[in-house]
Amino acid sequence: MSAELVCFSERCRATFPVTEPIYNCARCGSLLETRYCGDHLPAQMLKTLWRGRRTSNAPLDQSGVWRYREMIPFLDNYDSVVTLREGNTPLLPGPKAAQYGGLDFLAFKHQGFNPTGSFKDNGMTCGASQAVRLRMKRVACVSTGNTSASMAAYSSAAGLQPIIFIPHGNISYGKLAQALEYGAKTFQVEANFDQILALVRTLADKLGIYLLNSVNPFRIEGQKTIIVEMMDQRDWSPPDWIVLPGGNLGNTSAFGKALRELREWGLIEKMPRLAVVQAAGSAPFYDLMQTADRSALRAVDHPQTLATAIKIGDPVSWPKALHEVVSSGGVVEMVTEQEIADAKAIIGLCGIGCEPASAATLAGIRKLTAAGVIARDADVVAVLTGNVLKDPDYIYRYHTGQLDAPGAARIQPTFGNQPIVVPNDADKIAALLD
Ligand code: F0G
Repeated sequence: MSAELVCFSERCRATFPVTEPIYNCARCGSLLETRYCGDHLPAQMLKTLWRGRRTSNAPLDQSGVWRYREMIPFLDNYDSVVTLREGNTPLLPGPKAAQYGGLDFLAFKHQGFNPTGSFKDNGMTCGASQAVRLRMKRVACVSTGNTSASMAAYSSAAGLQPIIFIPHGNISYGKLAQALEYGAKTFQVEANFDQILALVRTLADKLGIYLLNSVNPFRIEGQKTIIVEMMDQRDWSPPDWIVLPGGNLGNTSAFGKALRELREWGLIEKMPRLAVVQAAGSAPFYDLMQTADRSALRAVDHPQTLATAIKIGDPVSWPKALHEVVSSGGVVEMVTEQEIADAKAIIGLCGIGCEPASAATLAGIRKLTAAGVIARDADVVAVLTGNVLKDPDYIYRYHTGQLDAPGAARIQPTFGNQPIVVPNDADKIAALLD
């Protein structure tokens, strides 16, 4: 099978070699995607092959991304692959969350089980492997935290120099700490995510640094495998809905592409609907979906949310995401800070836990079932994008009633769980427990 880069714009569709270090169409400036030509193995053979690899000790087979390498054949050989055994994330039932969300049953696909604790690892193994293939020395990204943590780990593992740019004071310490520990040169810029992305693109062009933001089409290829693995875990029976948080909208693009390709290859019979959930103070994609003319996204200049991972006002991948949401018959919802915080606590009470942005999924489900968009008996999978320990400060503040939303409105600790200070006295503690 051969691979090429193709312009995403319907009107252009210019093609470029897969070995060009480009992120946008040289002719019209639109986003690029990876396209494959040639024959693939029949669906049943692929399913059997992938299942068999689960018992293998080979690094490529142990990776929950490269196990499905027939779906992402953009490399000529696998010498450049850098893997930390990403993917392999569980599908976990959350009965309390289902009840809270107005559903009979709900499963979480928890990407927080990845090596650096977020779904970014699925894409980064591909982006970093492509960087090695292209003989790049330095890689860069702007990030709300998780991309930078992941890029730092994968590029250090590959012997590349990671350079990251983050909005000063606007990412959680857990994520910043990871970037430092994994050895990234780290710049905290006095600007928001969208402004820094423009800056980094200029720098990358000027200095010949490879960009590993989600405009990088190979990141999207890797993130497709979240869906492939989900279908494998469900014995190729697609759910009715897949719910995910939306920030820069790379993941929405990846999920849609994966579903289309799985269907084309005969691996699934029907298309699940995508439901993308944004934070109310940072919801340009939600706004776009409310308008009749969807030819241009109106950016939110000063996005606001405590779910810093999705604090993005001008998502670059919106044209792809729009196509995927519309063609899956999907919807976009938005939720308040209070709704995110309470949903997050409920996911915690399932013994699962996640970071704030991920909890937007359950908050969105609750709204969508109440509105009758998602039926109570629907088969729903929510994708939790990041680990509970990514943002412990948020958790402590919520449970102790000290969490303030942007604009200083206090979040109510509806499901708060205060730690109790006690004397070193067994009788008093026993009395408290009674
Ligand atoms: N959830 C988490 C935990 C994230 O870190 C992100 C994005 C998203 C959801 C949204 O995904 O951008 O594909 O729509 N984080 C990026 C970062 C922007 O820099 O780590 P998206």
